[in-house]
Amino acid sequence: LRKIIIDTDPGQDDAVALLLALASPELDILGITAVAGNVPLALTEKNARKVCELAGRPDMKVYPGASRPMVRDLVTAEHVHGQTGLDGPDLPEPAMPPMQIHAVDFIVETLMNHAPGEVTLCTLGPLTNVALALVREPRIAERVREIVMMGGGFFEGGNITPAAEFNIYVDPHAADVVFRSKIPIVMMPLDVTHKALTSPERIATFRELGTRVGDATAILLEYQERFDTEKYGSQGGPLHDPCVIAYPLEPKIFGGRRCNVTVETASELTMGMTVIDWWRVTDRPANALVMRDIDDERFFALLVERIGRLRDP
Ligand code: BDR
Ligand code: CA
Repeated sequence: LRKIIIDTDPGQDDAVALLLALASPELDILGITAVAGNVPLALTEKNARKVCELAGRPDMKVYPGASRPMVRDLVTAEHVHGQTGLDGPDLPEPAMPPMQIHAVDFIVETLMNHAPGEVTLCTLGPLTNVALALVREPRIAERVREIVMMGGGFFEGGNITPAAEFNIYVDPHAADVVFRSKIPIVMMPLDVTHKALTSPERIATFRELGTRVGDATAILLEYQERFDTEKYGSQGGPLHDPCVIAYPLEPKIFGGRRCNVTVETASELTMGMTVIDWWRVTDRPANALVMRDIDDERFFALLVERIGRLRDP
């Protein structure tokens, strides 16, 4: 069993990532921490609870975290995800309460109470909670097994500015702390997530599962695809965040290269840009395994098979 903490700002693709994790018996989810990102914190933490209940897991623990980035003002993405952050399916108000412990405290305590190398952090949003935890208790850096993150982009450029990907752009200072932390990082940038595309046929497969969760997944994907099709003109939208959960389940789905990644925090023009030394033209040490390739057929097969396990009670 692999112990993970999922840090997230749901978001439709975050929601599908959470469903994938909740459906996967290989993963021991110690907690879900919420961060401000796609929408403000009050919505992201509530959306995380809605998704747990959708998956039939009201016992899951959701910890609200940072309500704003470390330095910059919060930038949100209602234009992508809708006013609630989870527009599309009609999910009831959650009955399960949020935890009363702050996400940063939960991350620090959990890591300090586990042996080094035991806990993996899976991050699906801006890195504020993780960076604050590192500032609060620097010794956690030696304890994290690895951080698997959705964030950044290089050859594909950015999706919120020409230079920057949304998660890194929202809190570039937090990302900078994380990339300097010496924690092993597995990075899923736009370059790989833009190859994990939905299609009408793939969305239909979720509906054909004939379950409530399958239907909700189809609607979530259609909602986000509506935006992506307009934007990229592609047949389907990218499934960013589920890549992060697929990696610990089947790492061979992805291919990449170990290289150095630094984050721009000074220039307004390129704020939040991830500068990836793919060709190793500097002697800066590698701090991340940067993914670029995906076996998208296997990725979708995994997603469908797992979401199909979430059956109505
Ligand atoms: C990332 O930004 C959010 O909108 C998505 O949930 C994903 O985590 C993609 O840039
Ligand atoms: Ca996200």
